[in-house]
Amino acid sequence: MVNLGDVFPNFSAESTQGTIKFHDYLGDSWGILFSHPADYTPVCTTELGRVAKLAPEFTKRNVKLMALSCDSVASHNGWIKDIQAYNNLSGDFPYPIVADENRDLAVSLGMVDPDEKDAAGMPLTCRAAFVVGPDKKLKLSILYPATTGRNFDELLRVVDSLQLTAVKKVATPADWKDGGHCMVIPSISSDEAKTLFPEHKVHTVPSGKSYLRTTPHPK
Ligand code: BEZ
Repeated sequence: MVNLGDVFPNFSAESTQGTIKFHDYLGDSWGILFSHPADYTPVCTTELGRVAKLAPEFTKRNVKLMALSCDSVASHNGWIKDIQAYNNLSGDFPYPIVADENRDLAVSLGMVDPDEKDAAGMPLTCRAAFVVGPDKKLKLSILYPATTGRNFDELLRVVDSLQLTAVKKVATPADWKDGGHCMVIPSISSDEAKTLFPEHKVHTVPSGKSYLRTTPHPK
C-alpha cells in the first residue's frame, strides 16, 4: 500500500508504449495512474475513452496519464481499437496502458478488488486512481468498485485543487471549481492572513470562533 505523502514506487512495466519506468515517464510532471478491472468490458471502455478525450486538459495541467489492468499488452492494443470506435476517437492513443498479468503491481499498490474475478478465478483490479506530484509523492488516491464508473471531470477538478494548494496557503471547499473562492487554512494566523490574503473575509458563526475565512482565488 502507498499512503498519502509516500514516494510512489518507481516500478517498471510493459505497456502499449513499450517498457516504462514510472519516475522516468513522469519526469517533472504530475502523474495519474489509474486502473480498470479488465479489457473488453463496457464501463472500462467508456472510462478509457473519456480519459482519452480529456487528455488535452490533463496535458494543459502538466499531468501525464497511465492506465493499468491485469491484461496483456496485446489485449490492450486490440481493445484500444474498440475504445476509439465506441468513443469516436482516432489517431494515436494518447496515453499508455500498462500490463500487469501477474498482478505484482495490483497487489503492491492495493488495487485488487476481492469481489471481482476473471474467468479463471483470478482477482481483478478495482477502479483505482493515484495522483502523484512532481516530487513523486502520492497526493491523492481513490478506489471505486468495478460496477461504478468514475467521473474524470472530478479528477481534473482535484488536480486544479492539488496544484493550487501546493503553492498557496489555502484549501478548496466543497464543490469548488478553479477560480472560485478558497478557504484560508487554519494554521495561518490572522496577521499572516491579512498580509497574504488582503481581501479575505472572516465569517461570523454562533461559536464565536473565527476559523471560517474565505478569500478570492489567489493569483
Ligand atoms: C465494466 O467495465 O463494465 C465492468 C468490469 C468488471 C465488472 C463489472 C463491470
